[in-house]
Amino acid sequence: MANVIAVDGPSGAGKSSVSRLVGKRLGYLHVDSGALYRIMTWQALERGVNVDDPAAVASFAQEVEIEYRPEGGAVAYYVNGSAPGDRIRMPEINANASKVATVKEVRERITGMLRDMAKLGNLVVEGRDIATAVFPDSPARFYLTASAEARARRRRKEEIDKGVANQSEEAVMASLLARDHIDSTRRHAPLRKADGAMEIDSSDMTLEEVVETVINALPEGWAQ
Ligand code: DC
Repeated sequence: MANVIAVDGPSGAGKSSVSRLVGKRLGYLHVDSGALYRIMTWQALERGVNVDDPAAVASFAQEVEIEYRPEGGAVAYYVNGSAPGDRIRMPEINANASKVATVKEVRERITGMLRDMAKLGNLVVEGRDIATAVFPDSPARFYLTASAEARARRRRKEEIDKGVANQSEEAVMASLLARDHIDSTRRHAPLRKADGAMEIDSSDMTLEEVVETVINALPEGWAQ
């Protein structure tokens, strides 16, 4: 059985940067589970599925074909042969992904894919329900958090750097808090810290410090 490091937390807590770096240091594949929810959302919108109708989203969830394979230290995703790229990082996707992620059939489909990825090798998987629902038996489970201000600042910078949007910090924070609310109050696999997971507040920590904290807390033999 592969080693799986689970990293959960709200948007903008630094999960992606931390998970990517931890993966690189240890030679574990980085898995961005949020990207799968974003791909489902993007495809639903492209095909005119009403994302406010859970039944429509549920049946559509079975149809979307997502291929994945290891590439450059991460698990890369393809839809109809092409990589989704920054199309799934647009504000329109941000605004609708948490709705799509409330649908049980979407979660089941993605959870199945994520568990299947463990056959590819050791993984560091980031998301909202990785430690609570997808890999609850992993001995390496983390809950990464940060103040709303720090999270909004980081997300805004990310959007500007990627050239996908240039919104005010207030707008970014409002969208982030709205998503947090939906993610943590939904019925199926809501965002919460798993019992026994290690909580790390990254508000006043450098990326390097967070990475070190994660690596130092791993079970013996996982970090060589
Ligand atoms: O991490 P992110 O912003 O890319 O996630 C996009 C959306 O997907 C977010 O609203 C929460 C949802 N998500 C989820 O429900 N479960 C996961 N494991 C990962 C993301």
